[in-house]
Amino acid sequence: MDEVRAVAPGRVNLIGDHTDHTGGLVLPMAVELATTVEGVRGGDRVVLRSDHDPDPAVVPLDVGDPAAVAPGWARYVAGVVAELRPPVGFEGTVSTTLPIGGGLSSSAALEVAVALALGADGADPRALARLAQRAEQRASGVPCGIMDQLASVAGRAGHALLIDCHSLDVVPVPLPARAEVVVVDSGQARALAGSAYAERAAQCRAAEAAIGPLRRAAPGAEAAIADPVVRARARHVLTENTRVRATAEALAAGDLALVGAAMAESHASLRDDFGVSTPVLDALVSRLAATPGVHGARLTGAGFGGCVVALADPGALAGWGPERSWSLRPGPGARCVPAIPPG
Ligand code: GLA
Repeated sequence: MDEVRAVAPGRVNLIGDHTDHTGGLVLPMAVELATTVEGVRGGDRVVLRSDHDPDPAVVPLDVGDPAAVAPGWARYVAGVVAELRPPVGFEGTVSTTLPIGGGLSSSAALEVAVALALGADGADPRALARLAQRAEQRASGVPCGIMDQLASVAGRAGHALLIDCHSLDVVPVPLPARAEVVVVDSGQARALAGSAYAERAAQCRAAEAAIGPLRRAAPGAEAAIADPVVRARARHVLTENTRVRATAEALAAGDLALVGAAMAESHASLRDDFGVSTPVLDALVSRLAATPGVHGARLTGAGFGGCVVALADPGALAGWGPERSWSLRPGPGARCVPAIPPG
C-alpha cells in the first residue's frame, strides 16, 4: 500500500487578534515548524502513534463525540474523522517540530495534517481550513475562528498572510528580510482560555446585535452600544481591523516603525478593551519593547497567557531573556509530500 505523508505548519499572528470570529482581518504567517503525519491508508479506524504520548490515538471511522475521546490529543484526530468521514482508515505516526500547546497553533497543524493524510482535498484551501476549524471546535468545545487553520493551509514562504475571515481571501504580504519575527513563551498556561474565549465571542455577538456586523463598522460606531463592557469589546475589534490593514500596508512598504507602533496599540487594545492580557504578558511586552532593536511587541493568539510576538532587527533578541523563544520565518502551507523512497 502507498505511504502517505502530510505536513502542516503552525502559525504566529503578527496582528489582528479576536477579529476572526466576527469575520474581520488578521495578519498571521505560517512558520517553518510543522507537524507531519505519515502512514498507510486502510482498515476501519485511524490509529496514530506520537512520540509525545505513550497512548496512541485510536479512532473508529464512525466516532461519535470527539470531545469524549482519550488521550487529549486524540480529540483533534477524532474531530477530523467526524468532519471528514473518510471511507477508509489510516495507520501511522505523528511527529512535530512545534512546541505543543505553546501558542503556535500545534492543534491546527495536527488537524490539517491529519485531514490531508486521510484524503481531504488540499486543492480547496478554504474548505480544508473550514473542515479543520469545525474539527477544532468539536474537539475543544471552543468556538474558535478560522485564522489558525487557514494560516496553516495557505502559508507562503517569505510572506505574512492578510486574511479576510469573512470572504476567506488571502493576500500574501512579503516580510522584509531585515525584519525578524521572534515569539517568546510567557510560561503562563492558558488555563482560562476556553471559557473566557467563548465569553468574549458572545460579547462580540451582543455588539453585532446592537450595531450590525463588526467587520463592516468603522471605529466610533461602537459609541451606540449601551453596555460599557460590550462597547469596549467592539472598540477593540473595530480598531484592530483598522490596524491590520495599516500594518499590511506598512509591512509591504518596509515601514517597520509603523508596524511596531501598530503592534503596541494592538496589545494595549487587547489589554484595556478586550480584556485578554495578563500582568505576565504585559510585563513581557514592556521588557521586549524596551530592548534596543525591537520595533514592537504584543500578545499573540487568544491571550490569557501563552506567547508574545516581537518584530525586531535581525539578531536584536539573540539570547534574550530567560524565557523560551523562537526566531521564526514565514514558511509554506500544508501539503502532501512524496514519501521517502524505500532504501
Ligand atoms: C485562537 C483562535 C483563533 C483566534 C485567536 C485570537 O488562536 O483559535 O481563531 O480567534 O485565538 O485571535
